[in-house]
Amino acid sequence: MVYQIYPRSFADGNSDGTGDIPGIRARLPHLIDLGVDAIWVSPWYPSPLLDGGYDVADYRNIAERFGTLDDARAFIADTHAAGIRVIVDLVPNHTSWDHEWFTAARSAPSGSTERRRYMIRPGRGVDGELPPNNWTAVFGGSAWTRLDDGEWYLHLFDESQPDLDWTNPEVRAEFIDILRFWIRLGVDGFRVDVAHGLVKDPTLPDVAVNEGILESALIENHPHWDRDGVHEIIREWRAVLDAEQAEHGRDLMMVAEAWVHPTSLPKYLRPDEYHQSFNFDFLQCEWEAGLMREAVDRALAGSEAVGSSPTWALSNHDVVRHATRYGLPPETDWRAWLLDGPHDALDAALGLRRARAAALLLLALPGSTYLYQGEELGLGEVFDLPTDVLDDPVWENSGRTRKGRDGCRVPIPWTVAGSSYGFGENGSWLPQPARFAALSVEAQSGDPDSTLELHRRAIAIRREMWIDAGALEWSNKFTREEEQVLCLRRGDMTCLVNFGSEPVALPAGAVVLSSEPLRTDGLLPGPAAAWIRTD
Ligand code: GLC
Repeated sequence: MVYQIYPRSFADGNSDGTGDIPGIRARLPHLIDLGVDAIWVSPWYPSPLLDGGYDVADYRNIAERFGTLDDARAFIADTHAAGIRVIVDLVPNHTSWDHEWFTAARSAPSGSTERRRYMIRPGRGVDGELPPNNWTAVFGGSAWTRLDDGEWYLHLFDESQPDLDWTNPEVRAEFIDILRFWIRLGVDGFRVDVAHGLVKDPTLPDVAVNEGILESALIENHPHWDRDGVHEIIREWRAVLDAEQAEHGRDLMMVAEAWVHPTSLPKYLRPDEYHQSFNFDFLQCEWEAGLMREAVDRALAGSEAVGSSPTWALSNHDVVRHATRYGLPPETDWRAWLLDGPHDALDAALGLRRARAAALLLLALPGSTYLYQGEELGLGEVFDLPTDVLDDPVWENSGRTRKGRDGCRVPIPWTVAGSSYGFGENGSWLPQPARFAALSVEAQSGDPDSTLELHRRAIAIRREMWIDAGALEWSNKFTREEEQVLCLRRGDMTCLVNFGSEPVALPAGAVVLSSEPLRTDGLLPGPAAAWIRTD
């Protein structure tokens, strides 16, 4: 059970409206109560925050707004003392344009050592006035920006995030050193950003179709996504982790953020590569029994084929929160819906019920679960943020056609009242809606029907009853409405998810947990999920 902290939005210890490490430390009891095994901290490094910290200006330090390296050490010590591991974010595809390497590259001559750390090329056209090729940035617009002397630098994301040149041995050595730096500081692992993007086709050919990130990951031999060369780099890192693990006697791991096709994902999980990789195939599934079952099967088969284990997540800092996605009509393009609506198409109560049921499905599956901060509170997307507070570069870079990811990054409500609902003493960098009061940790704690208490119980029971429960088998034989129901068994544990609205009968055994109260006739209402133990 890995809990993702987005540090800007978790807890504000110094009352500047932005979360920080002292804030996280003060709220550690919440994560201990929840029962998490590890914490993944999204980037906390010095950064101009032009992409929420995924634009790193210094890989071996902590941003002043988040604290100091000593705060990080103290956080790791507290966390370890509680038996919880710490995973940090490694952002190797690009640096910030404020990184000293890029500052040097800007003023250095064409072809210099400084420039060769990045993907810097002359343009096309008579005076090089056209970009080197037709690649577009994930956030919108061209993937190339011109330097003062007329050369162009590549940025697959925002123009403030120049892509590094991973054919350059200096770049490779630098990141190995960064890995060692954090391992020696005490971290237990790394979440690797844009793990599928590091290697580019050296001839920089045009792409046939400029698709979105996921669609392009499906294109065979794409010039910058999911190229074979990335695996060589991964193996190098893995060897470093294995050696450090042996030296320090502490388990180390790395998990890939690779938005690739499910058939390609197992390659990242080979024994000498990543320990885990996020499973975006499952994350993107509609709330539909058959689709989810297929996605589970794909992930299990894929990871088993390479002797790895699957991961499950429904939300993160990049996607519309699933309590909202699940409350939208089928096949809604949720990214477009944020701006275009109609917002009254959202059935928030339904979304929350489904999210609660999904939590029980997720926690019953073999492998690791990643939980994004606020998910345990049933937070939905703050879809109604006014456009003048938007901070995500997606908003401007898309020509204001996509609202971006701020709605899932709104600071966490801790208390029913008070400035920013206990997030800090002095407001929050994104406004929180009034509905957050009732969703706060304080409001939900001790209320047995709350989503928070459901998660606390589920995580505790999972540890005791599911972790070693064995292989998964599907079994729908106990139910009337098979197409509405997923029923999985692992040993003596059964998880039944009712996707529909009609109540269904449960298999015989003791109901150890359900996401909604059972009806007086013993049926499970819908949508809901239940865990049953058979003797
Ligand atoms: C990853 C991060 C995302 C960031 C992007 C560029 O997808 O999760 O937040 O914007 O990489 O670094």
